[in-house]
Amino acid sequence: MDGNQKEMNSDPDKVVGKGKKRVDASAKVTGRAKFAGDVGFSDMCWVSVVRSKYPHAEISNIDVSEASKSPGVLAVLTADDVPGDNVVPVIEDDQPALVNCKARYRGEPLALVIARKREVAHRGVDKVNVDYVELPAVFDLMEALRTESVRVPRKEVGERGNVFDEMIIRKGNVERGFSKSSVVVQSKYRTGRQEHAYLESQCVTAVPEGRGGMAIYGSMQCPYYVQSAVSRVLGLSLNKVRVIQQVTGGGFGGKEDIPSHIGALAGLAAYRVRKPVRLVYDRREDISFTSKRHPSLVRYKSGASSDGQLLAIEAEVYLDAGAYQTLSPAVLWRSLVHTAGPYRIPNVSVTARTIATNTVPNGAFRGFGSPQVIFAHESQMDKLAQKLRMDPLDIRKINGLREGDRTSTGQELDSSIGLLETVERAERISDWQAQKARIAKWNSNHRRVKKGMGVSTVMYGVGMGAKAPFLEKAGAYVKLELDGSLTVAVGNTEMGQGSETVLTQIAAAGMGIDVDMVNIVPVDTSRVPDSGPTVASRTTTMAGNAILDAIETIKERVCKFGAELLSASSVEIREGKVHSSDGRTDPAPLVSVAEAMWTKNENLGAEGWAKGPSVDWNPSCGQGKAYFVYSYATHICKVEIDLWTGSTSVDDYVAVHDSGTIVNPTTAEGQVEGGIAQGIGYALTEKLSEENGRFSDPDLTDYRIPTTRDVPHCIKIDFVQKPYSGGPFGAKGLGEVPLMASHAAVINAVKKAIGCDINRYPASPETIFCSLFQKRQDVLDK
Ligand code: MTE
Ligand code: MOS
Repeated sequence: MDGNQKEMNSDPDKVVGKGKKRVDASAKVTGRAKFAGDVGFSDMCWVSVVRSKYPHAEISNIDVSEASKSPGVLAVLTADDVPGDNVVPVIEDDQPALVNCKARYRGEPLALVIARKREVAHRGVDKVNVDYVELPAVFDLMEALRTESVRVPRKEVGERGNVFDEMIIRKGNVERGFSKSSVVVQSKYRTGRQEHAYLESQCVTAVPEGRGGMAIYGSMQCPYYVQSAVSRVLGLSLNKVRVIQQVTGGGFGGKEDIPSHIGALAGLAAYRVRKPVRLVYDRREDISFTSKRHPSLVRYKSGASSDGQLLAIEAEVYLDAGAYQTLSPAVLWRSLVHTAGPYRIPNVSVTARTIATNTVPNGAFRGFGSPQVIFAHESQMDKLAQKLRMDPLDIRKINGLREGDRTSTGQELDSSIGLLETVERAERISDWQAQKARIAKWNSNHRRVKKGMGVSTVMYGVGMGAKAPFLEKAGAYVKLELDGSLTVAVGNTEMGQGSETVLTQIAAAGMGIDVDMVNIVPVDTSRVPDSGPTVASRTTTMAGNAILDAIETIKERVCKFGAELLSASSVEIREGKVHSSDGRTDPAPLVSVAEAMWTKNENLGAEGWAKGPSVDWNPSCGQGKAYFVYSYATHICKVEIDLWTGSTSVDDYVAVHDSGTIVNPTTAEGQVEGGIAQGIGYALTEKLSEENGRFSDPDLTDYRIPTTRDVPHCIKIDFVQKPYSGGPFGAKGLGEVPLMASHAAVINAVKKAIGCDINRYPASPETIFCSLFQKRQDVLDK
């Protein structure tokens, strides 16, 4: 895709669907972009966090006297210094900003040391003397489920012990479904934590503003969440708190709720010392004490008829939430809704639970609770296919959702369903049948290196869904400038996914001007009404719609004025000019119309708003319209495994997505490639070992994310573009889907290559080696 050509046209067809160069590219590659740590403020101080040494402990006393007296230390703050509510508001509001009596995970913030120099603040941390009464703790979700286990939750969860939350889907009659099934497969799947490994660690600077206000600058996904957290903790009204997103070096969900906590702590420090204060985590602190993807256990039973039709599934899903609920209720809900996969199944029973343990709270990570259940449902599909001696693609084609089908939540799918086309296209591009034959031949001739092909098919509910419909909104403020250029403010953030570029294209296409004439300004909560969070792959759809809404208002005014100016009955805006619809008069440049409007005191700015289409949900049976639209994908890949070392390499990768209209194929391909890399890491190498609530290797040396050598040389990407009528120019969401589809294709290929089952991530060389050993043992034992 040629992104470098300067396009001088602005017909929507020439802007939407084109691989325009990223608007943030040159600032980022030349180092001009200002990330959260790059901006200095005069008289800026630093804050360091005193953390609990134990995973579960009563805090009987915090003695700050020694630290307070240290030269260079400005203040030491504890929970007693919180002027507002001591809470990090997320969903259940169960997490304190600073612990006041009981620490529930190792590393939980107890106090803050503020100093003019960063090193002084760091050193001050060791001088805060904390008296602990250590309590027994629990670290494993299965262990936490035992009735005699220690209780972790802060808020009373009644008889449920360490079960934070339980959600269900009940559709049809699973007993009947299984009794009619010719094949039934059943398995248990476990996954561990996954670290976001964003390039830029967490960083926030709080700057006191005039009249008692507070400005927060930082690396984040959800500025309105940060605004609400700072307002609550400082006891300031929302209009006194302004949050400005800095250029953000990756979030992947890890900057969804965490900056609320960090922002509140930095805000508290700045509030007390009345100076700008920065809180930045180094990599070890970041990995050790911020959220991860939830470890999980999924028990899954599937039944199918002899011709491969799914008749029933029954699943139990457990997510390890860690010590507080934070985002877990929402993550769990997405797990629940995605457990059945993109398949037509008449009888479904899913029970999903979040479990409290004395570990760092887990949270959002690309896919948001769906990758864990996708590992399970895609493994199950392959197991069924094997038992039925069917091709893995065929069983997916037979059961894949089509127009008019109902999902596991009883939602009828009426439009924009490209699932089966993704399967068919991936089959064709990968040359599936011929590749399979070649691989079979290779495997029969080679003993040491084995190959396998794997497939995975997924669906993804775009947006917040029926769990949080009140967050499905987005605002924009658009201003036509006197020179015909367009200033656009939105409330949703760029974190590397390319949204600024895509939104620029949407604005240009909507207005009928060139992309170079559009400028998206940094997100600042005081510019646009609360636009909800930047999560759930919803930015293109929601912020895009908000921009188009604002542009519609401006265009109406311009056209009314332009029609008078051109003495035409109607006009339209194209290529930066106002044309009379009948073509009888010469077009007027948009600039001239804007100038004329300015002299007549016409309003050249407009607010735009987008609300998500309605969704509904009945929690007593888990039935309803869970999401307003779904995206789909099929990934196919080949792996090569050295049986002597257990090492795996992934290649010949094919990814086909239906995310509706693709506004920018180049950034979309970037999303797919990145998601594949993250999925390969999740399936094969990424492991965060935990011992007594402490991660043993919290650094990027031992936590192994894929490098350029571990990603496939050959990745073929294609898009089935089933337009979504509710999205801007037909776009749905893409951001998270590539990761969701990738890991399961990889693990399915691994299982094919070695000919044995793997029910646990990551399939590291050790795991593969052990599985092979086990298989040999099983053969010998027989
Ligand atoms: N891509 C990059 N480069 N960096 C990121 O932080 N976050 C992912 C995905 N792709 C992320 C990314 C996650 S978790 C989400 S929800 C979506 O982008 C959000 O962006 P979107 O709404 O524009 O898809
Ligand atoms: Mo993405 S996990 O919804 O921030």
